[in-house]
Amino acid sequence: MSGARKVEVLFSEEKIAERTKALAKEIAATAPKDLLVVAILKGSFMFAADLLRAMYRVGLEPQVEFFHLSSYREGTVSSGTVKILRDIESSVKDRDIVLIDDILESGRTLAFAKDLLTARGAKRVLVCTLLEKRGKREVPIVADLVGFICPDEFVVGYGMDVAHSYRELPFIGHVVTEADRP
Ligand code: IMP
Ligand code: MG
Repeated sequence: MSGARKVEVLFSEEKIAERTKALAKEIAATAPKDLLVVAILKGSFMFAADLLRAMYRVGLEPQVEFFHLSSYREGTVSSGTVKILRDIESSVKDRDIVLIDDILESGRTLAFAKDLLTARGAKRVLVCTLLEKRGKREVPIVADLVGFICPDEFVVGYGMDVAHSYRELPFIGHVVTEADRP
């Protein structure tokens, strides 16, 4: 355990839980049929787990799949291409899909996943992102459901990492190093 890391909270556990509940209600309001939730790994695993439980509580009965996609190297700069590290197993043909990711930034990851699901015959793909960074889009994609608008800084926690660390935090924050402190 490193005692040197400091993370400033941007979105608390309570705020995330409250917003997740509201998102589940918004999904239920779309009256999905034969619903399949597709979560994009790794970053969305914690959000997906909480959103799925919230969906259960509003009476939805989704099936669940995971895409493992990668667009980032070991740093904070996008590599520009999206790779499928692990594909989903279920058919998406004629199904309503809720596609979940942690952050919508350039849009490449979600656009790639949405296009793929559409090409495979999904009836409707609702894009649900926990965070959206505005003004960073490089490909045209609109999220149907957004948890929070994220400030333009690198955030960690609640599934999101920097160089494989911080995913376990129950809240979303940004890393404050001693050097950054006034
Ligand atoms: P996009 O393809 O540029 O929209 O990037 C989205 C992906 O980049 C997300 O799924 C995240 O995994 C990653 N990402 C973008 N910004 C951040 C950040 O601030 N913290 C952690 N991961 C990020
Ligand atoms: Mg990601």
